[in-house]
Amino acid sequence: MGFPEGFLWGGAIAANQVEGGAREGGKGFSVADMARYKPDVDVKNYQAHNAISLDEIERAIQDGDDAYPKRRGVDFYHRYKEDIALFAEMGFKTLRLSIAWSRMFPRGEEELPNEEAVAYYLDVFKELKKYGIEPVVTLSHYEMPLDLALKYNGWTSRKMIDYFLNFVFACYSNFGEYVKYWLNFNEIDSIIRHPFTSGGIVPQLCEPGTLRQACYQGAHHQFVASAYAKMLMEKLLPDAKMGCMLTKLTTYPRTCHPEDVALTQQVNLENLFYTDVMVRGEYPKLMRKRFEQEGIRIEMREEDEEVLKDGTVDFVSFSYYMSRTESASPDADRVPGNTVTGVKNPFLPSSDWGWQIDPVGLRISLVELYDRYQVPLFVVENGMGAMDVVEADGSIHDPYRIAYFKDHFLEMEKAIDLGVEVMGYTSWAPIDLISASTNQMSKRYGFIYVDQDDEGRGTLERRRKDSFYWYKDVIASNGKSL
Ligand code: BG6
Repeated sequence: MGFPEGFLWGGAIAANQVEGGAREGGKGFSVADMARYKPDVDVKNYQAHNAISLDEIERAIQDGDDAYPKRRGVDFYHRYKEDIALFAEMGFKTLRLSIAWSRMFPRGEEELPNEEAVAYYLDVFKELKKYGIEPVVTLSHYEMPLDLALKYNGWTSRKMIDYFLNFVFACYSNFGEYVKYWLNFNEIDSIIRHPFTSGGIVPQLCEPGTLRQACYQGAHHQFVASAYAKMLMEKLLPDAKMGCMLTKLTTYPRTCHPEDVALTQQVNLENLFYTDVMVRGEYPKLMRKRFEQEGIRIEMREEDEEVLKDGTVDFVSFSYYMSRTESASPDADRVPGNTVTGVKNPFLPSSDWGWQIDPVGLRISLVELYDRYQVPLFVVENGMGAMDVVEADGSIHDPYRIAYFKDHFLEMEKAIDLGVEVMGYTSWAPIDLISASTNQMSKRYGFIYVDQDDEGRGTLERRRKDSFYWYKDVIASNGKSL
């Protein structure tokens, strides 16, 4: 048994965290370009990093670029050839990357795409093709044009569906020749946790007390947009496949007390609601009831039900970094995770950022998702942010990263042996990049080290870490070296 032949091993990146070139090639600002590095804020307090006010956006628009790390990324915009060559050296079968909407449509409302952006992404895809690396493209990874956020309050407005589809059409028609696998919205469930980066929703532009309602409305528009995007794909790119993308926040009850279990069940249902809609093409009845009880009224058009049914996805992709634990008891201490908190699980170690490391949770997640949806799965993000040290001779020893990946791969293999269909695995991230939540550079995920610090100082030189060689062996042996 073990990993199937043709298993897509690789890595995942997002334009806003690697490209830089925020003011080059005709790119417009995206919501990600507003994210300020906050050195004095506790890295375990994700809410404080994510919070944004209109004043802060105004200031960010006027400011220079220094305090906004996503505007510089790791210079993939200029160094993509060097980086892709390094991915190829590791033997990558696939690279998951996103196309920055704000590079293609700088203000979001243009009719035609920015020619320079089209040329740039074509070059990137050609470079991947040169090495036989299959791209997996995320259409929306926290990169909405800022103007759409400010003018319409992002995805709260139904107009976004048309603007997004115009962008999608441009992607299919220009890059369809090179791209077979597409993902609609990165971590679509995250809109409820960080409305601005995920949905372009500015909390201050919502009536007091209506933010949750606005987020679910935004999610509904994204569901409909995804369905239309899938239908358009069937027409234009009949051989392509569309996946949805979930933050898989597998949650355990702290104890076997039935109240802990019941609460945990509700938490998990909330997380799975998003994939339920995109795989099954309808809202789950229990979520409809929950919305009714919470007074959340989602505006839908008559045709939406049919559209959701007609535009279901072909596969489910997800990110998995940690599991979390819930308790019905209010006094339980909480620890951070990927833009969530949970109760501390005494059986698990934590990363330096407090995320609890749980390889078995990946097996559990795979089995749960496959059993629920019976469609192929793709692990498109998994990894551990850590501080790395460069030795005097320039080497970087990262046994902690190797251990993290090894344990997760072995659990993924167990899930495959149980019968779960897994298309591939892309690590987050193959190269150090700017952290989505904290905007740090020092939270390093890569097999490839990038010489840049949190303030943007450094040569940007790339270096192979020990894990680089280790992953290369894993891929070459299709997991047999584990
Ligand atoms: C996922 C995002 O939530 O987690 C990525 O899709 C992000 O964009 C990754 O980088 C890791 O989170 P962070 O905050 O450590 O960068």
